[in-house]
Amino acid sequence: MTPSDLLLTWYDAHARDLPWRVGPADRRAGVAPDPYRVWLSEIMLQQTTVAAVMDYFTKFTTLWPSVDALAAAHDPDVMAAWAGLGYYARARNLLKCARVVAQDHGGVFPTDHDALLALPGIGPYTAAAISAIAFDRPATVVDGNVERVMARFHAEETPLPRAKPILTELAAALTPAERPGDYAQAVMDLGATICTPRNPACGICPLITDCAARAQGIAADLPRKEPKAPKPIRFGAIYLAQRGDGAWLLERRPEKGLLGGMLGWPGTDWRTDAPPAQPPLGANWTPLPEEVRHTFTHFHLRLSVHVAQVADTPAPDGLFWAPLRQFRAADLPTVMRKAYQLVQSSQALPDP
Ligand code: ADE
Repeated sequence: MTPSDLLLTWYDAHARDLPWRVGPADRRAGVAPDPYRVWLSEIMLQQTTVAAVMDYFTKFTTLWPSVDALAAAHDPDVMAAWAGLGYYARARNLLKCARVVAQDHGGVFPTDHDALLALPGIGPYTAAAISAIAFDRPATVVDGNVERVMARFHAEETPLPRAKPILTELAAALTPAERPGDYAQAVMDLGATICTPRNPACGICPLITDCAARAQGIAADLPRKEPKAPKPIRFGAIYLAQRGDGAWLLERRPEKGLLGGMLGWPGTDWRTDAPPAQPPLGANWTPLPEEVRHTFTHFHLRLSVHVAQVADTPAPDGLFWAPLRQFRAADLPTVMRKAYQLVQSSQALPDP
């Protein structure tokens, strides 16, 4: 059997049951995947684990069961539903894409690869994944799992990211004309459950007899990786002001930039040299003894957290009071939620 036959046979028995997936048996019976669910899942799964995505996928498809429903959603509701999943540009592009599909494509995802690529937030990976998984076209889908499987199967020792084009070519060569959608998901599942980054379970791998890295005893050492530059630490301050009636002072962050479009506490810039204090209004600000720590893709962040009880006062420019009834910490991105939790777990706010 060819490697792709071995993988498909393994997938028929061991495919993971995932809420966006049409399993191999249903697929054989003629059930077609919903391109909306395939697209949504692939956007959510970028840089994010299946475990982290599960509840978000269920929430989104319950709130917005179709691309037309999502296109008609209010931006703040979608950003709030995405809060905690990270990489918020994905959520902004998700909405843009849904609206283009609704308005320009009659609510039907295009099947043409170039038309997919032209949609907001859809790059080569996502276009290939939708082509293969939703439309069963022989596109080559290469994510981190696939890179690892290919590097090991071919004992490719060129380090990542330099190895990417080589691994993509190797992946393309193995992609079958038959069942390309199941095949793409089979390689991902193999990478996620057997050919794992650490301690690969080679003993139960369907590709064991042809795996070059296994033969050389180096499976666990691949893929090799170029050393990464250490992440710098940035510093900043955020300010949590609460009014007598319980309302919190918040901002909607600008569309462009980190946490773009999300809610947040007002504060300073985040810089490697600690920026000067910048409270949004005059008040009896009290610093918390503990700081918030959070890691982004390119830096570690440490935020000092300052709290104040303030009298009834208009919100400064660019900020607004969120009434206690409407405020939900779950709508905040994780770093902002951490600050809120820190305030909740510290002693009561000082008096104005
Ligand atoms: N990771 C990215 N896309 C995936 C998919 N469709 N199934 C499982 N894991 C994935």
